[in-house]
Amino acid sequence: MADEDKYPVESDRRRFVKGVVGAAAVAGFGASGAAAVNTSTPPSPVGGGVRNFMGTEMVDGPAPNGMPQIPLEIDDEGYLVGIWPETQEIEVDGETFVIAEEEIGGIEYSSEWYHYCGGQTLPGLAPTADQENYFHYSEITQYEWQQSDVDAGERVHVDHFDDYMEWEATEDIGTSGIGKPANARWRSEGDDIGSAETVPVLIIRSELIEETAAGDDWLEASTEDGFIAVFNTCTHFCCIPGWKVTRESMQFGTGDEIYCQCHQSVYDPFTIMEQSFVALPREDDDL
Ligand code: FES
Repeated sequence: MADEDKYPVESDRRRFVKGVVGAAAVAGFGASGAAAVNTSTPPSPVGGGVRNFMGTEMVDGPAPNGMPQIPLEIDDEGYLVGIWPETQEIEVDGETFVIAEEEIGGIEYSSEWYHYCGGQTLPGLAPTADQENYFHYSEITQYEWQQSDVDAGERVHVDHFDDYMEWEATEDIGTSGIGKPANARWRSEGDDIGSAETVPVLIIRSELIEETAAGDDWLEASTEDGFIAVFNTCTHFCCIPGWKVTRESMQFGTGDEIYCQCHQSVYDPFTIMEQSFVALPREDDDL
């Protein structure tokens, strides 16, 4: 098949298990050795510029880098909450700007992690946007369980993932029982925010996340009970990828990885590493 020629054989592609084994080491290195592995320039204080971020490893395909993670926590009632960095005012050349940045798990977490593919224009991602941080199930979902078991707009709750160690993709994609996914939106509530302006999120609960997070400062601070969240926007041309959504992904040996069917980019949700990209500035005052 022609598509198979794009990524010939398994050759240098890391197989899933190997990726999982290496995940803790990679993430740990990213958390502690960032300066040594990245040629980063300090971002402009007024928004945009080269940014370091923590995200999924980009394994294959044309995407330039991984997708950024959204750090999360679980509240006392079991609802999942995305962490939004604290806002602060900074002064540059006599002008005052509001930025959202905060150190989490030894990493400088910034709202600019999501400044690509239009993320820099989303109302909910403005540093001072009047938004709560719960994840809500999105109206459009790639998963049948979500259509039948929960309502669109409902807040994401740990109880909905009780079967995460047995969950199987509808089309029997990849390894069964390694996690359960959901499509959600974040900081996108309110009448004035249309569906085209929601912040797309992919949530996965997996035992592999729990294992990988153990002893890693960043992952312990940004994941909980095996839940991980990513800003679900392909860094190539901005499509919405999926985890265990299409059997087409099996052609490339990526049944256990996030797959973008637009141009076959592949991301590993179990290998979180520090990377850098050029963040775009916001076009308003809340830079
Ligand atoms: S691979 Fe091109 S948009 Fe995802």
